[in-house]
Amino acid sequence: MTSRHRHVFEPMLLGGHLEMRNRVFFAPMGIDLASDHGHFSPALLEFYRGVLEGGCGLAFLSNATVSASSRLQESGLGLFNQSQADSLECLFALSTECGTPIGVQLQHYGGQGATTLTGEPVLTPSGVACPRISKLDPHYATRVMDEDDIALVIEQFAHSAWLAWRAGAKLVQLQASNGYLLSSFLSPYTNRRTDRYGDSEENRARLLLEVIAAIIRRTDAQLIVTVRLGIDDRLGDAGLQFQDLCETVQALGHAGVAAIECSMCVGMTFQDFLGYSESMDAYLQDGVRHIKSISSVPVGYAGFVDGLDKAEQLLASEVCDWVGMSRALFADNDLIVKTLNGQEHLIHKCRWEGNCFRDKSDTRLSRVYCCVNPKYLRPNLN
Ligand SMILES: Cc1cc2nc3c(=O)[nH]c(=O)nc-3n(C[C@H](O)[C@H](O)[C@H](O)COP(=O)(O)O)c2cc1C
Ligand code: SF4
Repeated sequence: MTSRHRHVFEPMLLGGHLEMRNRVFFAPMGIDLASDHGHFSPALLEFYRGVLEGGCGLAFLSNATVSASSRLQESGLGLFNQSQADSLECLFALSTECGTPIGVQLQHYGGQGATTLTGEPVLTPSGVACPRISKLDPHYATRVMDEDDIALVIEQFAHSAWLAWRAGAKLVQLQASNGYLLSSFLSPYTNRRTDRYGDSEENRARLLLEVIAAIIRRTDAQLIVTVRLGIDDRLGDAGLQFQDLCETVQALGHAGVAAIECSMCVGMTFQDFLGYSESMDAYLQDGVRHIKSISSVPVGYAGFVDGLDKAEQLLASEVCDWVGMSRALFADNDLIVKTLNGQEHLIHKCRWEGNCFRDKSDTRLSRVYCCVNPKYLRPNLN
């Protein structure tokens, strides 16, 4: 530990008992390497070995879909049946061996899922289509959820969390950001309902809160639940903005979530997250600082954090309580170790050009690559 990174290396307890040795988390990054209908694969284990051995405080396993009817990538992860849960046991064993806890991100893609992969219309609060996916998927079709659909989705999240818990997970994160199902209910842009799941802020948060309550019940309150909260759609007044989340953030604390990880943007605005811009970075920090000021639980976020110096500055200036990095740790799994060893000059630095994200929809590629990490360099496609 160096005094230069005093706040970063302050341990943190999640849910009262899960210890993180430092305040850096590997934010969820779907690299599309699952095999055999959503099973955790040897290639994914190899990838997570690099991350878990790299010394972060906690790593998230990303995008485990809770429903066979909600998928986005052919090689995306699933967590809706026992054999998918069994395939995760090696990851939890590795996490124990490395002393780095792992959180499982539970996902329902909602209106940003693909119809072609499931043969079913995607579930939405009000039928608002995602322009990005509807361009990519020729069969894309939406369906407005009725109360039976809502009850089924709540059950699917609870079942998936229960499967994760029984397989060895100590923590799940609900993906309620970036325009996917839970966040599409939170946003007035995609949620135009007039029933008890729409209209007011309280009603728009109802589905998320019912999912949390169902998971806590199903796992006897033994599984730690955190929420990745979309705090701004980047759609201006038409969408969700961070100033409009006061009741929701307070309700999440009362509902028993252990922490909140903030994110911004939805599918059609996600390009704002791809290239670095000072204004986006500042806007994000303002939003997170605001959420932290109204939250009773620790608040973190990911976005353009390039190393421990910036993480330290964010923690010291109380923008957040824990700090996520996706691309910086993808570009170099050993960023933390190299910094601690005084080898910062050897770090493969993320270039923030967003090519890894573009790989996800590049039909010539079957996984996500990097421009700088020699372990998974993008092949030359020309
Ligand atoms: C290739 C790629 C895949 C991602 N997959 C996920 C995901 O599965 N779930 C999620 O919540 N966020 C996902 N994200 C968003 C990241 O968690 C993070 O919010 C974003 O990259 C900004 O943080 P960074 O600047 O540290 O990369 C992904 C981002 C990238 C670049
Ligand atoms: S592909 Fe580019 S943006 Fe993505 S992690 Fe690598 S260097 Fe960073």
